[in-house]
Amino acid sequence: MTNDLIRRSDFDGIALLTLANPPVNALGLAVRQRLTALTAELEADESVRAVVLTAEGRVFVGGADIAEFDRPPEAPHLPDVIAAIEASRKPWIAALNGAALGGGAELALGCHYRIFADTARLGLPETSLGLIPGAGGTQRLPRRIGLAPAIEVITAGRTLSAAEAREAGLADRIAAGELIPEALAFARTLDGALPRPASAAPLADPGHAFWDEARARIARAARGNPAPTAALEAIRAGVAEGFAAGLRAERETFLRLRASDEAAALRHLFFAERAALRPAALRGIEPVPLTRAGVIGGGTMGSGIAAALAAAGLEVRLTETGPEALAAGLERVEAIFEAQVKRGLTDRAGATERMARVTGTVGLGALADCDLVIEAVFEDLAVKRRVFEELVRLCGPEAILATNTSYLDPERIVEGLPHPHRFIALHFFSPAQVMKLLEIVPLAATAPRILATGVALAARLGKIPVQAGNGEGFIGNRILKRYRAEAEALLLAGATPTEIDEAMRAFGLGMGPFEMQDMAGLDIAFRAREAARALGQDLPEGPGDRLVRAGRLGRKSGGGWYDYAPGSRLPQPSPEAAALIAPLVTPGARPSGTEIADRLIAAMAEEGQRICDEGLAQSPSDIDLVEVHGYGFPRHKGGPMFHAARKTRSRTSGA
Ligand code: COA
Repeated sequence: MTNDLIRRSDFDGIALLTLANPPVNALGLAVRQRLTALTAELEADESVRAVVLTAEGRVFVGGADIAEFDRPPEAPHLPDVIAAIEASRKPWIAALNGAALGGGAELALGCHYRIFADTARLGLPETSLGLIPGAGGTQRLPRRIGLAPAIEVITAGRTLSAAEAREAGLADRIAAGELIPEALAFARTLDGALPRPASAAPLADPGHAFWDEARARIARAARGNPAPTAALEAIRAGVAEGFAAGLRAERETFLRLRASDEAAALRHLFFAERAALRPAALRGIEPVPLTRAGVIGGGTMGSGIAAALAAAGLEVRLTETGPEALAAGLERVEAIFEAQVKRGLTDRAGATERMARVTGTVGLGALADCDLVIEAVFEDLAVKRRVFEELVRLCGPEAILATNTSYLDPERIVEGLPHPHRFIALHFFSPAQVMKLLEIVPLAATAPRILATGVALAARLGKIPVQAGNGEGFIGNRILKRYRAEAEALLLAGATPTEIDEAMRAFGLGMGPFEMQDMAGLDIAFRAREAARALGQDLPEGPGDRLVRAGRLGRKSGGGWYDYAPGSRLPQPSPEAAALIAPLVTPGARPSGTEIADRLIAAMAEEGQRICDEGLAQSPSDIDLVEVHGYGFPRHKGGPMFHAARKTRSRTSGA
């Protein structure tokens, strides 16, 4: 029933409006209609002196209804709804019971006063969806908290805690006890008083230099997402030409971006990420509660996993084979927390607490009472197998035993071991404390509850879980292999490593395929190819093989696909590498920059489709999540599957 979307109750001249549109009280069409009608009704009702606007549930308002953005906008539009509230003769008090995001923040900004529950927060995350605030946020926020802080909040999509909002002058108060009684009491004390509306506050123009510097800085951080600089321009329009003109500029930009490919891509990821955290097949299955986790191996991967687990509040046992390796592993974990303090991700006390949750031990004995053990030892079947043989002797039958293998077959690691329902592969990406992707690979005998625990663990770690079937390279590394092969094919068609890397950076990746290989080292893949050759596989000698045979292993040997000056990470075109590759190059038309990117992304999408067809990924959007969260695919392109589908659609509709 539409009427239930906003409930009205009256308390001695104060009308209390409660939004009730689960799950996040999004401001969809029906809510906007109801709010418009209520605003007029309350304005005309002489018994009402003030209005308190709050919401049911944990969230105040999670924003506009993102699902509506694929359709044309329908009146009443949110800016008009908010303008009517701001123009009311009676004070409106937003009582924020939880997050006020996007349109929710704009609604709160249009109210005359704001009271925050101490857990409430306010933010404008639109740029992360390829949009800018579209209902006055770029105009009202700077007028309430000042230009520089507002630019930061809006362009970075930052959210302010209740305390920060108070500090910034945005919260008239933070409820000390129960929010609603305090908001009603506050409304009574006002006695109808209205503050100067945000729209009437003047803003001084700080001048060209300020805007130029801000634009350059914001564009750099945006990595190809056009929204942050567009938001800055809308703010600037309001400063230069006044509130009304600013609102018009904001709306125009909002509507243009709403229809853009980038915004569609970011919406696609928004819904894909949420779907990944709640797989339909696992609905109703309770995960195993986790308190204590063991990590075997204190190398880069193991220490990163240990740090991620400890940061999420788990008690961690990190084990190594000897005291020196253990000390080095613990040092790595400590260095990770140290770096987190430097980057403002935690404070000193937080880092100390995290480290206190990590205990180091030599040997596996201390893992006997762990709920979960993640093995991150050397990528060798016999070594991993020995670890699991010992684990099944030590741990109870309910302990979840996971391997972090990248390329080995997890079934072979645990073959024949007892209680196979609790084995699983949890494939982290390096650096594990940073990268958001977690590939979760159930084995044939893995129980659904164990799989559900993997998904819940990812959520707890702030990661994105993607279920992958047990095929070589799972999802991500299989696509990487294909991508690299296609990059080499382009090389043999006459493109240079520099041209290929530049094309991929222009597309939005942080790094091209050849600079990435130089960083990681060419020798690992070379050894894998040699091993395959030794087993009789017919692998023709490729350019990578020629480089390695000439001693060019990448940055660590002073050069690979590129040359590097001593101590420098700057790739320089290498005449020696070019000479080694030249005999393999087919003469003919050389691919251009856009052809290069098109071919590489198409190869990824094709491989992704194959993986879906083979049943090794659950959906194309899972492929996109893998590439975006594990391999640096630009978010605003949505992932290779989304990008390819969009391209096909625009080609057919444009034909
Ligand atoms: N429009 C439409 N649906 C939304 C939505 C929005 N603005 N915000 C959240 N949802 C949906 C989610 O897709 C999810 O749906 P599902 O249950 O079918 O998967 C559901 O609401 C719950 O969202 P979720 O993010 O899982 O809940 P949460 O409690 O962890 O977080 C928020 C709540 C509001 C903090 C979070 O949803 C959020 O950040 N939303 C987007 C805010 C935003 O960007 N607003 C600007 C819009 S222009």
